[in-house]
Amino acid sequence: MQLELVEGDITAQTVDAIVNAANSSLLGGGGVDGAIHRAGGQEILAACRHLRATTLPHGLPTGEAVATTAGRLNARYVIHTVGPVWDPADDRSHLLAAAYRNSLVLATELGVASIAFPAISAGIYGWPLTDAATIAVRTARDVAPSFPVRFVVFNRPAAEAFRNALAL
Ligand code: APR
Repeated sequence: MQLELVEGDITAQTVDAIVNAANSSLLGGGGVDGAIHRAGGQEILAACRHLRATTLPHGLPTGEAVATTAGRLNARYVIHTVGPVWDPADDRSHLLAAAYRNSLVLATELGVASIAFPAISAGIYGWPLTDAATIAVRTARDVAPSFPVRFVVFNRPAAEAFRNALAL
């Protein structure tokens, strides 16, 4: 399987699915979430609001994934997933792995030809970059989807962490 690393803005990627590091409300936020809603437009938020009004009345649980339109983004879908908040006293690694795994499983079900991930939980949710990258790469290798997986990182430290994880 093909894993690639790109340093840049995930909203500028041309792939079939762009993964959003969302929160359980699905109603937007900062970081990647804010960037995707800004660049993708109102259509994405409307689709998220519809999910909250129908199948996800209590929001999207941590580690789960759901797809919506990608709006104005160069993609067919946005796959929203919720990473765990880092807590040194509580090992939530399985939830971070689940966010990647469930996004890849959903992408496979949707028949995508390519996918771009941000460094889920490694921003506002405070997950240490090295461990976030290790879990991301290990999970992608475990699932081994038939399509290429692109990790899109926003800064040098994240690029370093993912480059090291990919070299393992
Ligand atoms: N493209 C790619 N990566 C980005 C972008 C972007 N446009 N903006 C931020 N990042 C990077 C951050 O630098 C970090 O490495 O994405 C990684 C994830 O950071 P966050 O977006 O803060 O996501 P997360 O840590 O999972 O926190 C999720 O933040 O935005 C809110 O609503 C969101 O409450 C949720 C929380």
